[in-house]
Amino acid sequence: MRIRVFDTPDAAAAYAVALVEQTAAVYAEPVLGLATGGTMIPFYKALVQAVRQGLDLSRAWAINLDEYVGLGAEHPQSCAGFMREHLYRHVPWDGARAHIPDGCAPDLAAECRRYDRLLATHPVHLQFLGIGLNGHIGFNEPGDELVAETHLVELSETTIRSNARFFRDPGEVPRRAITMGVGGILRAERVVLLAFGEQKAEVVARALTGPITTRLPASLLQLHRDVTVLLDTAAAQKIR
Ligand code: F6R
Repeated sequence: MRIRVFDTPDAAAAYAVALVEQTAAVYAEPVLGLATGGTMIPFYKALVQAVRQGLDLSRAWAINLDEYVGLGAEHPQSCAGFMREHLYRHVPWDGARAHIPDGCAPDLAAECRRYDRLLATHPVHLQFLGIGLNGHIGFNEPGDELVAETHLVELSETTIRSNARFFRDPGEVPRRAITMGVGGILRAERVVLLAFGEQKAEVVARALTGPITTRLPASLLQLHRDVTVLLDTAAAQKIR
């Protein structure tokens, strides 16, 4: 595991984009695993800038981690809406190569299986992750067990409270989501975890240096052979 600490989220985001550039230089059809959330905003901003300056992602695949159940792609607070706002509105992307679970699919279990087939045929080269305040990755919430494959999850109260900041009415935050499982995440060739701000410092330190436990899903990343962690100084302050 490589841990890199930057003065600002923007500096970390620039490094993350350099990793995309490296991957795009190696693979004709790079497969990027993408996340949503506040942490990812500087990264998408820098990625858009890089594409405007010539980075060619026209043959790249974008496979998102998760989506809320019950929010359609047109809903601004859905993960699809987030991706549209921060990436696809700025960078033309072949719709056939941009994937997010369908949180409104009539058969959600079948949608999870469909997503796993997509992941099997398009193994992720570079997986971006944020980390929840409770240590979740994707929407794999802490518990006695974790699920390897894409599945339906009940969001924890911590996650619902934290994500309420993106909704006009906090009561609107969905209580369930579809998420790639920890198996899907750990199968990515390379993983990049980003975390910024003091409020993430404690969970980052526990995830990177504490015991590996299903009670802190991000701690499983210690088992992956190619993880790069990009932090700002505030998020890194509790790592000993
Ligand atoms: C979202 C996702 C989540 C977020 C995490 C951090 O697609 O997978 O795991 O990365 O909740 O969210 P922020 O960045 O808003 O703190």
